[in-house]
Amino acid sequence: MFKIIKTANYDELSDQAFNIIKNIVTTKPDSVLGLATGSSPVGLYQRMVTDHQQNGTSYRAVKTVNLDEYLGLPQEHPESYYSFMQRNLFSKLDIPTDNIHLPEDGADQTEQCRRYDAILDGLNVDLQLLGIGSNGHIGFNEPGTSFGIKTHVVDLNESTLRDNARFFNSIDEVPKQAITMGIASIMQAKQILIIASGENKADAVAAMINGPQTVDVPASALQSHPNVTVIVDAAAAAKL
Ligand code: GLP
Repeated sequence: MFKIIKTANYDELSDQAFNIIKNIVTTKPDSVLGLATGSSPVGLYQRMVTDHQQNGTSYRAVKTVNLDEYLGLPQEHPESYYSFMQRNLFSKLDIPTDNIHLPEDGADQTEQCRRYDAILDGLNVDLQLLGIGSNGHIGFNEPGTSFGIKTHVVDLNESTLRDNARFFNSIDEVPKQAITMGIASIMQAKQILIIASGENKADAVAAMINGPQTVDVPASALQSHPNVTVIVDAAAAAKL
């Protein structure tokens, strides 16, 4: 079930998303937040940091689980999702390091998937934040992924490599594989908040909400979730 909030622009989208997160963290200081990377949540994370610095909103008891991570990039690479999260959020909040969880690269990838599933099994996610890929992916669950899957390794689609090339010197530097929380785990969250900005998301947003529920559009899995808030700016809402 989707609650749709349309905003005029990205700043308003970020304001609205921040209001939802702040409400959760202040009413339940030991919340479990599922977090996302990409350009979509940057404005939200800036607001969380400013609010923490100015109003003292505390993340001491908050736990986080991130959606995904590239394979083949060292953690310290500036475009690893570990580095992204440290830079944009974690290093600027009072959240303890032990409370932060991301999928990790490793010699034994099957073992890394099971490690992450064990972490997820031990936590009840209060809110899962999502962006959406222009091809309808959530996390790095690309089109064709079973809705029943848990943490797994993926080969990234050509369109995803192109979309993410803007963060690297060239498309050849974009990692070809990633490890991602599966759709089944995403669906376990009590509440989902999905944010989308810009015209290149308009088709995916429309397919997620109004299209058939199909593995061709991974975000359409969310049609079966009881509590999904979608915040879209005008450009991303253009085909609703
Ligand atoms: C990325 C991430 C997703 C993200 C999506 C949209 O590749 N794996 O978690 O939500 O694609 O990214 P952006 O917000 O930069 O458009």
